[in-house]
Amino acid sequence: MINKKMEEALNGQIREELYSAYLYLSMSAWFETINLKGFANWMKVQTQEELFHATKIFDFLNERQGTVKLQQIDEPPDKWDSPLAAFESAYKHEQHITGCINDLVYEAIEEKDRATQVFLDWFVNEQVEEEASVDEIVQQLKLVGEKGQGIFMINRELGTRTFVPPGQSEQST
Ligand code: FEO
Repeated sequence: MINKKMEEALNGQIREELYSAYLYLSMSAWFETINLKGFANWMKVQTQEELFHATKIFDFLNERQGTVKLQQIDEPPDKWDSPLAAFESAYKHEQHITGCINDLVYEAIEEKDRATQVFLDWFVNEQVEEEASVDEIVQQLKLVGEKGQGIFMINRELGTRTFVPPGQSEQST
């Protein structure tokens, strides 16, 4: 059975993952408003990834006879200055999430909760991919600049992304 302190921390991470889903869905909506449907698609798939992350913690808490307590989720921003600004903001957010996961690992070590440590290894690896996939798009956007052909090429590429549960395919990152 999971202890109360670890249970509280993991419930906090469910909120973080759900906020991530909310943030990326908001970005998807914004990309729709500026007619970059490929970018909007990428963000919508990212939303599904975040829901997967939240549900993975939800299932783990239940498996460990913990209690899931859903918390209030903040309202995300609803506009950004440019596609690059949105992706830079997403990158910053992923760095924040990596920090949250690391804090959970340290807490699991402190609580001598080996099962949670092993569970969190998946998230540690996932965050490496999360940061890398967002950073790759940031770098592409910097390379092509804010306007012109390049943006539409990236838009077309991002439009091909589909959701596959993380860990099951290379296309899901
Ligand atoms: Fe659930 Fe994008 O980290």
